[in-house]
Amino acid sequence: MCFEFQDLVFSLVILVLVLGTPISGAFAKSENNVKSAVFLSPKIELGSGSVANKFYYDTDFPRGHIALKSFNAEVVDEAGNPVPLHETYLHHWVVARYHQHKHVIHKGFGDNSDYVVRNNGICQGNVLGQYFGLGSETRGTATHIPDPFGIEIGNPEEIPYGYEEKWLLNVHAIDTRGVEDRMGCTECKCDLYNVTKNERGEPLSPDYIGGLHCCHDLDQCRLREGVLSIKRSIYLKYTVKWFDWDNFVVPVKIYILDVTDTLQISDNSKGINSNHACKIEYEVKSCSTSHKDGNGCLHVKRTSLPLRTGGYVVYGVAHQHSGGIGSTLYGQDGRVICSSIPSYGNGTEAGNEADYIVGMSTCYPQPGSVKIIDGETLTLESNYSSNRGHTGVMGLFYLLVAEQLPHQYIRHSFLSSFTLDMKNIFY
Ligand SMILES: *[C@@H]1O[C@H](CO)[C@@H](O)[C@H](O)[C@H]1NC(C)=O
Ligand SMILES: *[C@@H]1O[C@H](CO)[C@@H](O)[C@H](O)[C@H]1NC(C)=O
Ligand SMILES: *[C@@H]1O[C@H](CO)[C@@H](O)[C@H](O)[C@H]1NC(C)=O
Repeated sequence: MCFEFQDLVFSLVILVLVLGTPISGAFAKSENNVKSAVFLSPKIELGSGSVANKFYYDTDFPRGHIALKSFNAEVVDEAGNPVPLHETYLHHWVVARYHQHKHVIHKGFGDNSDYVVRNNGICQGNVLGQYFGLGSETRGTATHIPDPFGIEIGNPEEIPYGYEEKWLLNVHAIDTRGVEDRMGCTECKCDLYNVTKNERGEPLSPDYIGGLHCCHDLDQCRLREGVLSIKRSIYLKYTVKWFDWDNFVVPVKIYILDVTDTLQISDNSKGINSNHACKIEYEVKSCSTSHKDGNGCLHVKRTSLPLRTGGYVVYGVAHQHSGGIGSTLYGQDGRVICSSIPSYGNGTEAGNEADYIVGMSTCYPQPGSVKIIDGETLTLESNYSSNRGHTGVMGLFYLLVAEQLPHQYIRHSFLSSFTLDMKNIFY
């Protein structure tokens, strides 16, 4: 714990260096009522080819009853410079909300009374319950939520007496300097990591050849012959924008759909019960074993899932891994709700790394124009190229849905200073 505390102090020092202003001042830059803050995760040490899968409880985050407007992140080195994906592959980062009993001294969970405040669904348990999360595409993916919408957090009425709202940051990064097979390491191929057991020490099934079970924290991917491991330190730098909650903000719900979700619907005395089974990852087999470089092979995976409560789509984005060529969410009648297409880099600099997904296109429908009906069954489709095989790929869809619209203002154009305008009108 002492060690963690030192890390935290150090990360604050870095934050001050990066921003060049005192910490208290750095905290609230305000523009049109929108506040913005830049935070650094604790320091993450990586040797060549090693894996970090860190969970930081009580991570720095804006406090109070606020509306979140965006969350952007990237990996930086000790000097604050962006680290390209071919050096440190950012498998994912995830930010989750939880409530912790006030008198708990330890940093993590442990007290049974602490619990995750998950998003609105729809996987089982706390699976994919995060508020935000992206991977290699994080530098090139828009995350802002258009006015007058926002994600409501910190509402004192929702925090049980004696509890505090806190945030968990999970960072999964893979160092691929000096490795034998860069893509193989990023796809967590078990043979490259020499892993045969899962986190609990149980043997992995022989047909499990790659995925998150083979790249745990501190695992080592195979280096090229003669390469010496070099340690380096990285941080996840994240920028959060928000404004103070007021009644003009229209709240959005967060849904994350997973193409591996196999839903079983059962009818019992209490009504319809649905058992989601999101597996998060899947495998894309090469379309041809004889022609390794077959061209134009397509792997399509689909699942159909009902959304109990619908609403108006405000934002949509898919998450895919290298090899992904796009993902579409369809309504029950076959209409396209949102299509999200990856863009690949074609250079070496951070944000444009060749062969990596460096951004995902997003959907910002005109508010009110894309509606999901209560109980509507959506179909999620995730396409990958299967010219070569891929392990541990994902097909997630992140959706922000508003249950109401800001009626009076729907026909006006939404300015970025919406709340300011509202105040001018009413005061
Ligand atoms: C892989 O694991 C086996 C058994 O766990 C061990 O004997 C072997 O030395 C390991 N190989 C490498 C390259 O680490
Ligand atoms: C995915 O593949 C299907 C079947 O070929 C195609 O109809 C759809 O347009 C593709 N979607 C994307 C986003 O590539
Ligand atoms: C990368 O792609 C951009 C846009 O498509 C293009 O202008 C540029 O020349 C390409 N760069 C390289 C190194 O291929």
